[in-house]
Amino acid sequence: MFDQLDVLPADPLLGLITLYNNDTNPKKVDLGVGVYRDEHGHTAIMQAIQKAEKIHMDKEDSKTYLGPIGVAGFVNGIKSLVLGESSQAVASGRVAGLQTPGGCGALRIGAELLKRIKGEVTVWASDPTWANHIPLISSAGLEIKSYPYFDAETGGIKFDAMDAKLAELGPNDILLLHGCCHNPTGADLSYEQWQQIAKRAAEQGFIPFVDIAYQGLGDGLEEDVKGVRYLSEHVEEMVIATSCSKNFGLYRERTGTLLVQTKSAENAHAIQTHVQDAARANYSMPPAYGGFLVDTVLQDPALRKEWEDELNSMAERVKSLRAGLLEKIQARDIDKDFSFIVEQKGMFSFLGISKEQVRKMREDYSIYMADSSRINVAGLNTECLDYVADALEAVLK
Ligand SMILES: Cc1ncc(COP(=O)(O)O)c(C=O)c1O
Repeated sequence: MFDQLDVLPADPLLGLITLYNNDTNPKKVDLGVGVYRDEHGHTAIMQAIQKAEKIHMDKEDSKTYLGPIGVAGFVNGIKSLVLGESSQAVASGRVAGLQTPGGCGALRIGAELLKRIKGEVTVWASDPTWANHIPLISSAGLEIKSYPYFDAETGGIKFDAMDAKLAELGPNDILLLHGCCHNPTGADLSYEQWQQIAKRAAEQGFIPFVDIAYQGLGDGLEEDVKGVRYLSEHVEEMVIATSCSKNFGLYRERTGTLLVQTKSAENAHAIQTHVQDAARANYSMPPAYGGFLVDTVLQDPALRKEWEDELNSMAERVKSLRAGLLEKIQARDIDKDFSFIVEQKGMFSFLGISKEQVRKMREDYSIYMADSSRINVAGLNTECLDYVADALEAVLK
């Protein structure tokens, strides 16, 4: 039976890791994989998380099952973090939710929920979007198409073209949005653009599905969710997938939530049973550990402050690397305007160079990035900025 299946092509980003690991050039730079790194290239455990681990270890006296909802306190904490302490939707019991194995688990259970509710729905994703959106959503049986988004000329958003496409959407459409720090482009919607999207969703009846995996890594914890909160206040129904992989550094603990805002507490109760049922049919229950840690951090004022400070300093580091790289580029003989690097938010930027130039960066200078020219800005450090700018100057000649 198994001889019927051929080997699948390797995941391009994972292939890049192997190439990078085998590269003996001491100057090599890894701008490929999307994890936060410190100045030494290390993805450290956050201090507040380390303290929460100790507190949790001392307290935990059982490993018995928790049920498909996961750690209930954690889910409530994330509702407040994303939708705000004073969210009316949350206060009135209109938001169903459960802990999921990472943001990926949330996207998948969200897609399964949409498949259950409506027959023929289409999910609209930005062009480009995070590569994993496509398999996560389409493997739940939903059709996925794209709307215009990134403007390669300016490094910003083609909002007029996007809005013209949104004008065609109706109640059988789902609009997949990145809550902040768009992956892979770093080009985020402005507050006014979020308002326009909310107006269209409310009038035309399409459902926003917000994927937010980088809250706090753009302009700050509150600032990064302004658009999402506006949507929540102005549309009745929406879906939100959150991830604690990046902003709590819990990558391997697989910690996320799926939140579903509905029209009434009664609807939310029904949806709660469905998302739990979908979880049960997939993986039964999420791993609890990450949920306990985040819950501990969010509930303890001192730990929460420590986490917020550390997260802010991570975001500041990325911003200063953006500014540093732009300064180095501008000091060189490079025609292309890279000023979008400081406009874009979060960990990623699209350099907008060709595949051939990406290959040269890798083969001639050991600087690794995705073929699309997406770079993980957090993979830079103050030491390598000159080297990267020199390499860019050479390959752009
Ligand atoms: C846009 C986006 N959504 C969701 C995720 C989900 O991540 P995880 O499943 O690791 O929590 C990621 C991770 O890279 C992402 O970039």
